[in-house]
Amino acid sequence: MRGRPTLHALAVALILSSGVVWIAVAPRFPPAPPAAAAVRDLDAGRALYARHCAVCHGERGRGDGASAAGFATKPADLTDGRLMNALPDEFLLSIVLRGGAAEGLAPTMPPFSGFLSDAQARQVVLHLREIASPPFRPEMTQPLVTAPRAPRQPIFFSHVIHAGSFQIACQYCHADARRSEYAGLPSVERCMGCHKIIGAQDNPEIAKLHDFARRGQPIPWVRVFKMPEFTFFPHAPHVRFPIACQTCHGPIERMRVVGADTGPALLHDLQVLVGFKPSSRALTMGWCIECHREQNATRGAKAPLDCVTCHH
Ligand code: HEC
Ligand code: HEC
Ligand code: HEC
Ligand code: HEC
Ligand code: HEC
Ligand code: HEC
Repeated sequence: MRGRPTLHALAVALILSSGVVWIAVAPRFPPAPPAAAAVRDLDAGRALYARHCAVCHGERGRGDGASAAGFATKPADLTDGRLMNALPDEFLLSIVLRGGAAEGLAPTMPPFSGFLSDAQARQVVLHLREIASPPFRPEMTQPLVTAPRAPRQPIFFSHVIHAGSFQIACQYCHADARRSEYAGLPSVERCMGCHKIIGAQDNPEIAKLHDFARRGQPIPWVRVFKMPEFTFFPHAPHVRFPIACQTCHGPIERMRVVGADTGPALLHDLQVLVGFKPSSRALTMGWCIECHREQNATRGAKAPLDCVTCHH
C-alpha cells in the first residue's frame, strides 16, 4: 500500500476525468510510517538509555533503577509527562550533557558529555519523549528565552523549573501582586516550606537557601525591573484588570535567569514573542501611556493619562 493512492482515490479520479469538470483530488495515502532514519534514532536512543541511564532512572524510566535508593534526591521519574512535557529539548540536552547542576538541579545527576555525542544525546531525548505519559506533543514546549542583562543572583533559582515544569502559580510566590503596589518576592520561609525536604541534602544551591534560613537573613536578590523613584507603578490595578504578568515581563517561565533590557529593543522582542506589540520601548513613559490609551479605547479601562497619577 505504501506510496500508492488508495482504490477510492483512483476511482474518484477516474469518474472525474471522464466528467466535465476536473477538481484536484488529494489522493488518500495511508498515514506515512516514520522514516527509516527516525526509527533508527529511536532504537539508538532506547539502547543508549538502557546502557547509561537505567541504572538510576530504571529500565522504564520511572526513577526506580538499581542504584536509585542510594540518592537523597531521587532520580527523576522521566515518564511523568506532567513535569517533562513542558521542558524544551534544549533544557533536557543541557542536563544530559552537562549534568543536573547546569540547570540548578542536584549534581548527583552526572554529565554525560564524556560518553555521549550531541547526536546521541538527542537520540536519548527522543527516547524520553517516547516514554512520557501523558504523551508528549511538540507544541507542548516552547524554546527557552535568554533574557538580556540577567544578573548573577545569590542562588541559582530557575523559573523554568518552578513556574515552567512544576507550574507553581506566579502569585503563590509573588503574593502581593493582586493587593499592593509591589508584586513582592517570596520570603526565605516560603521557600523553606518546600525545601526543608526537597533538595535539602544534596543540592548545593538549596544548601545556600538553608544557610540564609539558619542565619535568619533575607536572600539579597538582585532587582531586575525597576522604575525611577519619581514614578508610581502599582501592580494591583494592572493584575486585577487583568493584564497577564507576561505582557509586561515577558515569558518568565521560560527564563533560566530573569533579566530585562531597560534599554531599546530586547524586552520589546520578548513582548512580541508573547503576542503584545508595544510601539514604544518597554519600561519607558511612552510604553505606559501607549498601553493606557489602547486599553482605554478597546477594553473600557480607566487608565490614567494625567501627569500626577504616575508622578507623585
Ligand atoms: C548516577 C545516577 C544517574 C544516572 C546514571 C542518570 N541520572 Fe538523571 N538524574 C539523577 C538524579 C539523582 C536526578 C535528580 C536531580 C534533581 O532533581 O535535583 C536526575 C535527573 C534527571 C533529569 C531531570 C528531570 C527533571 O525533572 O527536570 C533528566 C532529564 C535526567 N536525569 C536524564 C537522565 C538521562 C537521559 C540519563 C542517561 C543518559 C541519566 N539521567 C542518567 C541520577 C542519574
Ligand atoms: C511549592 C514548592 C516550592 C517552593 C515554594 C519553592 N520551591 Fe524550589 N523547587 C521546588 C521543586 C519541586 C524543585 C525541583 C526539585 C528537583 O527536581 O530536584 C525545586 C528546585 C529548586 C532548586 C534547584 C533548581 C533550580 O531552580 O535551580 C532551587 C535552587 C530552588 N528550588 C530554590 C528555591 C527558592 C530560593 C525558593 C524560594 C524563593 C523556592 N525554591 C521555592 C519546589 C518549590
Ligand atoms: C517558587 C517561587 C516563584 C514562582 C512560582 C515564580 N517566581 Fe518569579 N521570582 C521568584 C524569585 C525567588 C525571584 C528573584 C530571583 C530572580 O530574579 O530569579 C523572582 C523574580 C521574578 C521577577 C523579577 C523581579 C525583579 O527583580 O524585577 C519577575 C518579573 C517574576 N519573578 C515574575 C514571575 C512570574 C510572571 C511568574 C509565573 C510565571 C513567577 N515569577 C513565578 C520566585 C518565584
Ligand atoms: C502593566 C505591566 C505589569 C504587569 C501586568 C505586571 N508587572 Fe511586575 N512590574 C512591572 C513594572 C513596571 C515593575 C517595576 C516597578 C517599579 O520599579 O516600581 C515591576 C516589578 C515587578 C517585580 C519586582 C519588584 C516588586 O516586588 O514589585 C516583580 C517580582 C514583579 N513585577 C512580578 C510580577 C508578577 C508576578 C506579575 C503578575 C501577577 C506582574 N509583575 C505583573 C510591570 C508589570
Ligand atoms: C499592558 C498595558 C499597561 C501598561 C504597559 C501599563 N499600564 Fe498602567 N494601567 C493599565 C490598565 C488597563 C489600567 C486601568 C485598570 C482599570 O481600569 O481598572 C492601568 C492603571 C494604572 C494606574 C491607575 C491605578 C489606579 O489605582 O487607578 C496607574 C497609576 C498606572 N496604570 C501606572 C502605570 C505606569 C507608571 C506604567 C508604566 C511603568 C503602566 N501603568 C504601564 C494598563 C497598563
Ligand atoms: C502612565 C504613567 C505616566 C503618565 C500619565 C505620565 N508619566 Fe511621566 N513618566 C512615567 C514613567 C514610568 C517615567 C520614567 C520613564 C523612564 O525612566 O524611562 C516617566 C518619566 C517622566 C519624566 C522624566 C523623563 C526622563 O527622560 O527621565 C518627565 C519629565 C515626565 N515623566 C513628565 C511627565 C508629564 C509632564 C506628564 C503629563 C503630561 C507625564 N509625565 C505623564 C510615567 C508617566
